[in-house]
Amino acid sequence: MRTRPERSRDPTAGASTFRIRLAVAGDAPRLAWIRTVTWRAAYAAIMGSHALERVGKRDGERMRRAVADQRGGRRVWLVEDDEGTAFGYVWLGPQTDRALGKAGPFFGEVYELYLHPHWQRRGAGTALLVHAIWDLINAGLGPVMLWVLGENGARHFYEGVGGVCFGSRRIEFGGRTMTKFAYGWHEQLPLPR
Ligand SMILES: CC(C)(COP(=O)(O)OP(=O)(O)OC[C@H]1O[C@@H](n2cnc3c(N)ncnc32)[C@H](O)[C@@H]1OP(=O)(O)O)[C@@H](O)C(=O)NCCC(=O)NCCS
Repeated sequence: MRTRPERSRDPTAGASTFRIRLAVAGDAPRLAWIRTVTWRAAYAAIMGSHALERVGKRDGERMRRAVADQRGGRRVWLVEDDEGTAFGYVWLGPQTDRALGKAGPFFGEVYELYLHPHWQRRGAGTALLVHAIWDLINAGLGPVMLWVLGENGARHFYEGVGGVCFGSRRIEFGGRTMTKFAYGWHEQLPLPR
């Protein structure tokens, strides 16, 4: 899928067009780097740099496993620019938390969605999320849900793409207690591009 962003605040930086494709084993190191850089930028203020340092060290192995694991329709889609340089990804698959059944049921989940900071706010995140939602639905894994930290501005992003908050949970991370929120797509489905 080749998509032209609807807006670009700085046309001299970042991707002008982008393409979404399935990630393969050789993409794992690049995806790990995107995850590490994006986490540092997005979560340093929320979680503290010490906790992030520890998480970053495990990103290589994490993304290698994510790309290799295709059980139940799990997969990773990446977004890349005209030169084939990947700058974001979405990891999705079956929703496995049985405790969520009462609110749903939700059969599909977006596990992770990360855009390198340099390429954020250019429409690629919306394109990846919409692609992920419809990929899960077409694989028989709809409705779709995901989790997002309460302190994360991405909550507004998900609401803008039609997500509806239906629950919350307290979690511990790096010695801190935080709240994460569940968003679902039942009826207000974003139109595929
Ligand atoms: C959240 C994220 C995936 C969004 O992707 P993106 O390509 O930057 O977003 P888009 O350009 O498609 O944004 C569309 C709209 O969503 C809203 N939005 C996007 N990111 C936002 C943020 N951090 N805070 C508030 N609103 C946001 C805005 O209304 C935006 O429109 P605008 O740029 O015209 O104001 C991306 O910014 C990202 O990876 N952020 C850091 C990591 C993260 O939080 N991931 C989600 C974890 S659950």
